[in-house]
Amino acid sequence: MIDVNISQNSVPKHLGIIMDGNGRWAQKHGKSRIEGHNQGVETVKKIVVAAKHMGIKYLSLYAFSEENWKRPEFEVKGLMELLKTFLEADLHMFHDNKVKLEMIGNKEKIPFFARKVLEHSIQKTKNYDEMTLILALSYGGRDELKRAFEHMAKDLLDQRMSISDINEKCISKYLDTKDYPDPDLIIRSSGEFRSSNFLPWQSVYSEYYVTDVLWPDFSENDLRAALTHYQNRERRFGKTSEQLQARTTS
Ligand code: IPE
Ligand code: IPE
Ligand code: MG
Repeated sequence: MIDVNISQNSVPKHLGIIMDGNGRWAQKHGKSRIEGHNQGVETVKKIVVAAKHMGIKYLSLYAFSEENWKRPEFEVKGLMELLKTFLEADLHMFHDNKVKLEMIGNKEKIPFFARKVLEHSIQKTKNYDEMTLILALSYGGRDELKRAFEHMAKDLLDQRMSISDINEKCISKYLDTKDYPDPDLIIRSSGEFRSSNFLPWQSVYSEYYVTDVLWPDFSENDLRAALTHYQNRERRFGKTSEQLQARTTS
């Protein structure tokens, strides 16, 4: 079932979302930060299903950054427990919608109790192909590049590649995102105009959409508004508007 309110001509193939504002939502409602994150998970479930119906093939959700490890221990622990309970209680959502789960980020840093459930969920959903949900967990773009450089240096030293092999395509193959197209659109909730280390290499030509809506309040209509906005943009990739128009009319 496809969402008929979205033109299927230029749906982003890969949508990234920086899900921000759980803490401010909690504060606004006199609740704890963890309750804000809980409510954020409710939004995740809604948006995954909506994105699939809108025709998106890859959905990346920035759920926990490399820098988020610096938060108070209590909050970090709460977030890891939330990851575990979400994947345990809602795995049916992946099955019901034929959504494949994958992750990017520094997996080794995720505590074993959560990593085990994550790996299990990835394994159980690996044959689905309607949409891929990519959770960015313990993810930092600079950390990803650091790990890619280490890997590449090792391949160079072991003579599995030579310096003349290095080009943009080859670098992309060393990143966690090697199996995905670059994001076409990145949405950030809660009104912050920054990337906070999300997909720096991959997002150079992504369109950005920032909304003041706090993540727990983010709705299907907000997603639709972002997509409509995206569909009205002209993506020039360095060319001129005239060049693009000549291509579409010829
Ligand atoms: C986003 O919400 C969730 C994570 C970063 C894990 P925040 O927790 O950053 O919410 P604010 O920015 O404090 O409102
Ligand atoms: C970015 O949000 C990371 C995630 C949404 C997971 P933050 O709340 O951590 O970002 P900053 O610190 O405000 O830049
Ligand atoms: Mg934040």
